[in-house]
Amino acid sequence: MLVSATEMLKKAKAGHYAVGQFNINNLEWTKSILLTAQELNSPVILGVSEGAGKYMGGYHAVVGMVNGLLQDLNITVPVALHLDHGSFEGCYKCIEAGFSSIMFDGSHYAIDENVAKTTELVKAAHDKGLSIEAEVGSIGGEEDGVVGMGECADPDECKAIADLGIDFLAAGIGNIHGKYPENWKGLSFETLDAVQQKTGEMPLVLHGGTGIPADMIKKAISLGVAKINVNTECQLAFAAATRKYVEEGKDLQGKGFDPRKLLAPGAEAIKATVKEKMELFGSVGQA
Ligand code: 13P
Repeated sequence: MLVSATEMLKKAKAGHYAVGQFNINNLEWTKSILLTAQELNSPVILGVSEGAGKYMGGYHAVVGMVNGLLQDLNITVPVALHLDHGSFEGCYKCIEAGFSSIMFDGSHYAIDENVAKTTELVKAAHDKGLSIEAEVGSIGGEEDGVVGMGECADPDECKAIADLGIDFLAAGIGNIHGKYPENWKGLSFETLDAVQQKTGEMPLVLHGGTGIPADMIKKAISLGVAKINVNTECQLAFAAATRKYVEEGKDLQGKGFDPRKLLAPGAEAIKATVKEKMELFGSVGQA
């Protein structure tokens, strides 16, 4: 059964580790992530962007697929199904469809409007037992066509949004989605420290988990980050493994046309990536 992410992230913050959010795009990815979480006895969050939700057929299809896998694969570790960077309308659709967690990305609104919309969604989510994440300071890079500038959040704005009753907060600290450019200055631990001091117990979320050096990840966790989002790294691993399989000509031998064989190396590559991240984040054995 799906659970909200509130308890797992409270536990993570108190225990000084982070739970990974891995974005899903299809059955193979979802299965790989769930099986790895179960094998490592780790809690996990499945992230779904609005674009990925549409690709998979819609939010009801996603909920059906995930719930079916939890049952058929006997997954007993805590799993949350979370809308990633949701619009105001998208959040309502996921609440209705059976997600267990949502993120409202109001970072592109003026702070007053972000506050008003977040307040409304906090109530709607909590009424149905879902957890809710909000964002302050837009995360850079491109996601589903939305390009952020990678700004650092204002700690006072973080406090204002945290006080609305959200369950965890994504604060921009110079992190971006996708690969980091050569001249990236690194995470702003000064901002993170200031945000954590203002927001206290609130679990903090680090987006753009792909390509952040291990020492920065560990330092971010020590400063209150309890959820780390990873998407691009799974995409790169899946694409590389699939390409290698095709380039080696294995798809042309015998049953190479079988999608179950063609996608198997990619699915294994995702398992390896998720395992590596769960070990780095410290969530192994915490279920
Ligand atoms: P990456 O694609 O950089 O791993 O970021 C994922 C993310 O933050 C999803 O919200």
